[in-house]
Formats: sequence, C-alpha cells, structure tokens
Amino acid sequence: MATRERCRPRGAQAASSTGACGRSQPAPPLPGARGRAAPGRAGPAALPGYPVAERPLRQSRRGGGGRRDGCGAAVAGRAQSGRGSLRSMVAPAALPAAGLFYWVGALGALYAAALASYRLLAGLRVWVLSSGAAAVGPALGAWAVVTGATDGIGKAYAQELARRGMKVVLVSRSKEKLDQVSTEIREKYKVETKVIVADFGEREIYNGIKAGLEGLEIGVLVNNVGMSYAYPEYFLDIPELEKTIDKMVNINITSVCEMTRLVLPGMLERSKGIILNIASASGMCPTPLLTLYSATKAFVDYFSQGLHAEYKSKGIIVQSVLPYYVATKMSKIRKPTLDKPSPERYVRAALGTVGLQSRTNGYLPHALMGWIVSLLPTSTAINLIMKTNKQIRARYFKKMKEK
Ligand SMILES: NC(=O)c1ccc[n+]([C@@H]2O[C@H](COP(=O)([O-])OP(=O)(O)OC[C@H]3O[C@@H](n4cnc5c(N)ncnc54)[C@H](OP(=O)(O)O)[C@@H]3O)[C@@H](O)[C@H]2O)c1
Repeated sequence: MATRERCRPRGAQAASSTGACGRSQPAPPLPGARGRAAPGRAGPAALPGYPVAERPLRQSRRGGGGRRDGCGAAVAGRAQSGRGSLRSMVAPAALPAAGLFYWVGALGALYAAALASYRLLAGLRVWVLSSGAAAVGPALGAWAVVTGATDGIGKAYAQELARRGMKVVLVSRSKEKLDQVSTEIREKYKVETKVIVADFGEREIYNGIKAGLEGLEIGVLVNNVGMSYAYPEYFLDIPELEKTIDKMVNINITSVCEMTRLVLPGMLERSKGIILNIASASGMCPTPLLTLYSATKAFVDYFSQGLHAEYKSKGIIVQSVLPYYVATKMSKIRKPTLDKPSPERYVRAALGTVGLQSRTNGYLPHALMGWIVSLLPTSTAINLIMKTNKQIRARYFKKMKEK
C-alpha cells in the first residue's frame, strides 16, 4: 500500500516508460481523448490496453478514492449504485490531472536535462577549451590598478598583470610594503610601477587616489582590497562592532564603488577596459557567523553584475570573482592544497575566465564546489555553513584559552 501511494497515478505514466513502481506502463491520455471512452468502459482511444476506470473502482471498494477526493464527484459516486456510473464519474475527473502531472514531469525532466547539458558545455568551454578568453594585457591600456596589492590575491594579480606587460599602480596602506612589492615587480618584470598609499578604511582618501591616477591610461582595475572577521562570530558579539561595521563597509563596499567612479570614465572614453571585482563565495549564499562580511560580498557581486549589464555594450567587461578559500594571510591558510590554492595559481586560473564568465568562482575546484552548493536548497546550505562556522568559532576560542 505504501509503495503504491508513492507511485504516480497509473493514468499519468507513459506508454514506453517504466513507471515509478518499476513496471511498464501504458501511454497517458491524449488531451481530449477521454471524451471518446464509452461510459462504463475504458475505450482504447483513452488509454490503449489499460482499463482506466479499474483503479477508481478498486479505491472505491476500499473506501479510499471517493472519500479522499472529498469533492462532488465522490459524493455522487456513493449515492449511485452500479459499476458503469461510478466509472464514468471518476474517470473524467482523474484523467486531466494525471495528464497534467505527466506533462509537468516530462517538461521538468527535459528542462533539467537541457540545463545540465548547457552547464556542462559552458564548463567545458571555460575550463577545458578556454578559447574566447579576453586578452587581459596592455592592449586594453598601459596601466593596471590593483587595490590591496601588497599581499595575497591582490599581489598575485599585480604580478600576473606585470608579467603580461602591464605597468602597475599598487594601492595599499603600508608604504613600506608597497615599496617592497613595487621593487620586486619592477625588477622581475621590467615594467613601470607606481604606489599610492591609502587606507580604504577611511572615506576621505579618494581625492588623493584621483590625483595619483591622473593622466594614466588604465586598462584594468582590480578591486581586490577586503577585510573579514578575525574569527566567525555572532553579529552582536563582534569586537568593537560599531568600528568594524564602518571599516568593513568602507573597505569592502565603498572602495569598489569609488574606485569604479574614478576609473570607468577613462575606460569609456577609449571604449575598452576590464574591471575585476573580488567578491567571495560567501557572497553567493548567506554565511552565518560571517554575516556582515558575506553581505558586503553579496553587494560586490550584485554591483558587478549590474555594472556589467550597463556597460558591456560600450566595450567594458566587469567580472564578479567569487573565490572559496585561497591560501593567504586573510584565510590564515599557509599551505596551499588543490581546493585551497596559492594566490598565484588562483589568479592565473581566474584571468583565464575573463570574457567567458562575467561571474566566476575563478578556479575549477571552486567552480565544482559552487555547483554542488547550488544544488542544495538555500536553507540546507545555510544550516551546514552555520554548523561549520560554529565549529571553527569553538576551535578559535579553545586555541585562545590554551595560549
Ligand atoms: N583568501 C581567501 O580565502 C579569500 C576568499 C574569498 C575572497 N577573498 C577576497 O579576496 C580579497 C583579497 O584577500 P586576501 O586573502 O588576498 O587578503 P590578504 O592576504 O589579507 O591581503 C589583503 C591586502 O589588502 C591590503 N589591505 C587590507 N586592509 C587595507 C586597508 N584598510 N587599506 C588598504 N589596503 C588594505 C593589505 O595590505 P596590508 O598588508 O597593509 O594589510 C593586503 O595587501 C579580499 O577582498 C577578500 O575578501 C579572499
């Protein structure tokens, strides 16, 4: 009985298919075909080789079908006696619904198969063939500007763009580190560099940055600077909450908008340019215990997608880059692994997706992780992340106690 209830109504199953119960089933009724069935008998045109009315009759005998329906037909069915009249009343009501289920199911399966094939082909194009990737280099403009360029992902972008022959403007808060990275790049890649000292935690820095960028032909802007929490924490328990909110919004959100405001006009004049906004995979799904960070990254993702739609027809590419873990100071991961790559490895892969994906996880293992997460219902993903972040938080406090 339980098995039967899990199966679709028999009238809903296809002629050549195996039903949910593992048995071959006849074809569904053609729309309008039920009208051809003789009262009291399932006509061949309605369901070839299958007595449609048998099931409602058996349900009725068990007291199942009629009472469950709770509708006028069921009440009338009880009131009348005789097999033929019962058949003629239940069958017309059951068949359209069964046909509808069949077609909804079939179209749903078709849509899922088409979507899966499209994703597979798109994935092959990006990760295997890589043809069509935009040439990210000096042809776009002599200079690249990178924020948060003295460490991690930002430094790797600066190095890779210099390797491709671009001159690089490095923007960060520590003059000493800027000079060190600048010298490294100049010596290794034989390109010009420029440094701008700016703390993106502050709002009054943009006139200074504008002056520093004056007259430069900027082909690539990498909005990379970002800050996260020291450890996963409940919103109200974040140390120095008011200050943290202000800093995180300034660094993760305001910097992206303001740098775009300064650089995009020059790109539009030349009808070419690429803006790479480093968001985070945590911006793709609400991330409890990193709530504020995750929300700022969702902003970056949305901002990038909207901006790309606004300006792509004018020759500008805006890409939203959504990494999972990368081995940097921020993630506190020292040893790169396949799924937590070094910033250099990550950036090389991510640059290969420019022009192919306006929204990217940037690196094949991260793209697979993103795909798996996208299959989960959002509430399940949020619960899993909450559980994981609670564990990380507990480990952090344990470590702090031991110190
Ligand atoms: N690492 C990951 O696992 C991961 C994952 C997803 C997304 N992301 C995103 O990727 C971006 C880069 O992260 P990362 O891991 O490479 O970080 P990182 O290694 O900590 O490097 C951050 C860079 O930003 C600079 N910076 C930090 N605060 C600044 C401020 N207030 N003003 C100016 N410069 C500042 C740092 O300079 P100083 O040396 O002076 O501090 C450093 O150059 C961030 O937007 C982050 O949210 C990272």
